Amino acid sequence: MDFNLSKDLEFMQKAIHDFAIAEIAPIASELDKNPKFPWKTLRKMGELGLLGILTPEKYGGSGLDMLSYAVFLEEISAADAAHGTIMSVTNGLPQSLILDYGNESQKNKYLPKLASGEWIGAFCLSEAHCGSDAAALKTKADKVKGGYILSGEKAWITSGSEAQVYLVLAKTDPSAGAKGISCFIVEKDFENISFGKPEEKMGQHAATTTTMSLDNCFLPDSALLGQEGKGFSYAMSSLDSGRIGIAAQSLGIARASLNFAQDYAAERTAFGKTINSFQGVSFKLADMAVQLEAARLLTHKAAWLKDHKKSVTQAASMAKLFASEAATKISHAAIQILGGYGYSKDYPLERYYRDARVTEIYEGSSEIQRLVIARELYK
Ligand code: CAA
Repeated sequence: MDFNLSKDLEFMQKAIHDFAIAEIAPIASELDKNPKFPWKTLRKMGELGLLGILTPEKYGGSGLDMLSYAVFLEEISAADAAHGTIMSVTNGLPQSLILDYGNESQKNKYLPKLASGEWIGAFCLSEAHCGSDAAALKTKADKVKGGYILSGEKAWITSGSEAQVYLVLAKTDPSAGAKGISCFIVEKDFENISFGKPEEKMGQHAATTTTMSLDNCFLPDSALLGQEGKGFSYAMSSLDSGRIGIAAQSLGIARASLNFAQDYAAERTAFGKTINSFQGVSFKLADMAVQLEAARLLTHKAAWLKDHKKSVTQAASMAKLFASEAATKISHAAIQILGGYGYSKDYPLERYYRDARVTEIYEGSSEIQRLVIARELYK
């Protein structure tokens, strides 16, 4: 593994950084206060290739690798975590699933629209009664002539009601546990689908989250992804990639927090000196920098493993666990350095702290990551 990014990747990183600073950072606070799904900036991200990074060029994507994906996601998330979540989910879950398990006609139908940002994709695994115990889902898909009838209610859907394509996990054989779960491509415009009102969340307000109800919704046979009964396994393997995305997003929030606190500590004076001259502050900054660097190394290693087609389940969980907890710790410490200003909405740190918190929860809580890591130790 090379610790230096290639010249090409550094060049692209700088372009994405400049875009994020110019177009996304200035609207982040307003989106937090008056949430609205950020279609305008998403369309621009689509034009830059940021919404189909891993999708091959022949399907309208950028055809880049996981490391590029992690680097770009950090840049976008440093400007606004809500944009980072939407970007991570549409790239990492629906597109990866269709790419890895879809047939040619599904790839041609969905990937170009998703990769260009004309459409956004969503992933529907969780239900109100089950998040961590994902295989306990109750949504069912009954086989009928020419297709399936889906019934159930999905919860915590990122981009719910805004996305056009939903990858829905449902039971085709309720007696078979995880092996009875299949994955379906559901379009927003199919009949008998409705969405709940956006959840009122602690942070990431512009990344709309809703429930999705399927009330005897008919899907044609062509909506089945891959094989019946393999959906859980597909979902788990796509979450391996998704978790690298959340790790990269966490890096962005952590970096923004550290940079803000670092600049502030170099300006703010107390007892006749800038506060970074006091070890109480500088040691805190040092610990934050170490946590960020360690989180980035784990994240880039997981991306490198994925790019080299090696097993990534444990590495992705390690990266997601460490980076998400680092983002919370670093944004917490940054607020402490600013004191009252850190707690004030006049500065971005209280938003970073609220935005960071969910990275320890979605795409598998920290406890689930520890469970996955521990299980892999014994394989
Ligand atoms: N890749 C491929 N297949 C996998 C896999 C992986 N990483 N992990 C498990 N599987 C397969 C297993 O091999 C097994 O298949 P076989 O029996 O054929 O071998 C099958 O899946 C069942 O696996 P387990 O027995 O390990 O299943 P389990 O019930 O014990 O659950 C779990 C495992 C790790 C706890 C899993 O339920 C899990 O990850 N839970 C958390 C779910 C999660 O991350 N949800 C987030 C939803 S997305 C979201 O947050 C919303 C959003 O929009 C951002």
